[in-house]
This record gives sequence, C-alpha cells and structure tokens, in this order.
Amino acid sequence: PAVEFELEAPFSIEYRDSIGSTNDRARELAAEGAADVAVLADEQTGSRGRLEREWSSPSGGVWLSVLVRPEITPAQAPLYTLSAAVATTNAAREAGVDARIKWPNDVVVPVGDDGDYDKLVGILTEMEGEMDRVEWLAVGIGVNANIDSTDLPEGATSIREEAGDVDRRRFVQRLLETFDEYRTDLESVVPAWRELALTLGQRVRVERPSGDVVGEAIDVTEFGALVVETDDGERVTVSAGDCEHLRP
Ligand code: BTN
Repeated sequence: PAVEFELEAPFSIEYRDSIGSTNDRARELAAEGAADVAVLADEQTGSRGRLEREWSSPSGGVWLSVLVRPEITPAQAPLYTLSAAVATTNAAREAGVDARIKWPNDVVVPVGDDGDYDKLVGILTEMEGEMDRVEWLAVGIGVNANIDSTDLPEGATSIREEAGDVDRRRFVQRLLETFDEYRTDLESVVPAWRELALTLGQRVRVERPSGDVVGEAIDVTEFGALVVETDDGERVTVSAGDCEHLRP
C-alpha cells in the first residue's frame, strides 16, 4: 500500500512498501505531468540496472527515483546523474561509509589501495524530450542500505556491512537536499564530483561500441566525460561506457 512519507524535502514523496520499479512509476507520473516527485520503495520486484542488467532490490534498501523537469538540453543531462552520485556519496559518508565515486556514477567503497572496490549504489537515469530540450528526467538511485551481506550480489556491499544500519528517512532527506542544491548550481557538480572520484589516477579500460580505450584516467570534462591518456600519450574523451579499474 502507498504510505504517506513526510519529509522536509524539496520534493514530494510517494512511498511504497513494495513496487515493480520506482523508475517505471516515475515514468507513469511523468506521463501525468508531475514534477519534483521522489518515488521511494522498501523493496522492488522488477528493478532495472544500466545496460539492461539486473539489479537486486531486497527489503531494507533505499530504492528511489527522482522525477524532475529541468530547463536543460540533453547534453547537460549527465550532470544530473553526476549530481545524484555526489549527493548519494555525501549522504553515505555522513552515515559513516568511506564512499567514493567510480566514473561515471557508481558509488563504491574502496577495497585496499589498488583501485579495487565494492559497489554500494547504482544510478539509472531515464529521460524524454527533443534534441534541444529535456522534457523530463527520472534519476533512479539504488542504495544497498540496511541489507545483509548474504542478500547482496557478488562485488557489492551495503551501509549495514560498512557502518551499521542507517536511518533511511534521514538518508533520503540529506540526499534530496543536496541533489536540490546542485540542480540550481550545475557548474559546481563536476568540481564536487572530482573531489570524490576514485577513478581519477587509475588505470582503466572503458568499453565503447567503437573499441575499448585503455590508459590512465586523468580528468573529467565540464560535462562529466572521462579523459583517458592512452599508453602512446593520446588523450581520448569518453562520454559514456562501462569503466573497469585495472590493476597497476
Ligand atoms: C546500475 O546498473 O548500476 C544502475 C542500478 C539502478 C537501480 C535503481 S533502484 C531505483 C531505480 N529503479 C530501478 O528499477 N532502477 C533504479
């Protein structure tokens, strides 16, 4: 059943104990003309990950989709995803987790000093609009919050595992507050992202349809694309793709 979820957040909250996918619900709300709504669930039964991957969403997590109607072009949309990554990383750090960002928008916890990590948060942004204008954007944020290690996929971790249970209400409140601050100040997103990035300085492989890029991740551009310096000294800018940290 839908439950009223009161937060002093700059978004209205629609809370469900269980739902198929909060991103699908955000899509429905978008079709009804809604804006500035966050759909939150304790459990999802049909959640979706990036690149058509599965995403596990047992009870105890923070499964959230934020629906906005920003006045931006599609080229600026990645900044919204990056700001969600920054906002979620900050909320996790406040909960006592050593959270960092893996390009473009995974929130991870480092394991050792070699760029290895366990995944804490995944983000899936979906949008609709024209070439020059975004109509709506739904940022889907999946946080392994109060979840036992036995219920996590391989290579994943949770806030419970890292720092003990978090007050999910407060976590969502802080996340949405920070997300709201960044959307009115898009220029500060990439600098904030850089501060939290685990990927910069790492040797990486980025998969692209046109061929993989291997080299050192040296920077992100103002739009959040990754700049990789290959072994022959060439600088390649990659705007999207799966990124793997390689062992040095
Ligand atoms: C990834 O593959 O890393 C992205 C995972 C995104 C999962 C979140 S959970 C809330 C929202 N609803 C979904 O069905 N997916 C996203």
